[in-house]
Amino acid sequence: LVSLIDFPVQMDSKPQNLPWVEKYRPKRVQDVAHQHQVVNTLLYALEDGHADVPHLLFYGPPGTGKTTTALALCRQLFGPALFRTRVLELNASDERGIRVVRERVKTFAQTTISAPPPNESGRKPPPFKVVILDEADAITGDAQTALRRTMETFSKHTRFILICNYISRIIGPLASRCAKFRFQPLPRDAMKDQLRMISEKENIDISDAHLLTLVDSCDGDMRKAITSLQSAHRMAKAGDRIDDALIATVTCTVPESV
Ligand SMILES: Nc1ncnc2c1ncn2[C@@H]1O[C@H](COP(=O)(O)OP(=O)(O)OP(=O)(O)O)[C@@H](O)[C@H]1O
Ligand SMILES: [Mg+2]
Repeated sequence: LVSLIDFPVQMDSKPQNLPWVEKYRPKRVQDVAHQHQVVNTLLYALEDGHADVPHLLFYGPPGTGKTTTALALCRQLFGPALFRTRVLELNASDERGIRVVRERVKTFAQTTISAPPPNESGRKPPPFKVVILDEADAITGDAQTALRRTMETFSKHTRFILICNYISRIIGPLASRCAKFRFQPLPRDAMKDQLRMISEKENIDISDAHLLTLVDSCDGDMRKAITSLQSAHRMAKAGDRIDDALIATVTCTVPESV
């Protein structure tokens, strides 16, 4: 039985000094913490024989794993060799005019799916491409309407993953075409566990109480918690234990937007 769940997902080797939010971004769906409903559903889709997915809509607050889950799913669906030709990622840094979205999606969706390179794992890759539209709530209403037609036109060979913070900003006809998954703010224990895992890998000396103080300043936003931990680590003298003063500094000074 060939399951996509264990398909190798290693992409290019990355530089050493990555921000921890990137370095510790889960690479596989099953490694995404706490979001059980979406994780279980996607793992089922990745099992042999179910390698199809509907259009998806991920919504919920910042730093809860939406982008991470979409990328992990695509890695597991396609593996490193096909990722670049089968996945189109668009986000808010791209132009969001109606024309741009439509044209880029169209160009990508129109090109035929080429035959996979001879055998990486002995299984057939899924017969579709994926368009990830991150920060989809920043797309204008007109562009969303256009997108709805684009989705219909290309749905035979293309799946869309729409990602947003506010589902209310996605027009109804678009949302109703997707399986919707709400990402929850991470509970404090799940966040503490992630921070503890990172602390161990990075050899950081920090107490559970200090980790919890950090976590409690982050409103379930895992990105913010990891960034705060890395800030504290940068400010600590090499090898020093992270203390009250450092924690106070990072929990007060890390801006919301980080
Ligand atoms: N559920 C999670 N399990 C493990 N790590 C997580 C989880 N959610 C977020 N993280 C960590 O936080 C980082 C940011 O997560 P991600 O980019 O997926 O957030 P997001 O939900 O897309 O947020 P935004 O709405 O701001 O785009 C990840 O790289 C990862 O390190
Ligand atoms: Mg995101």
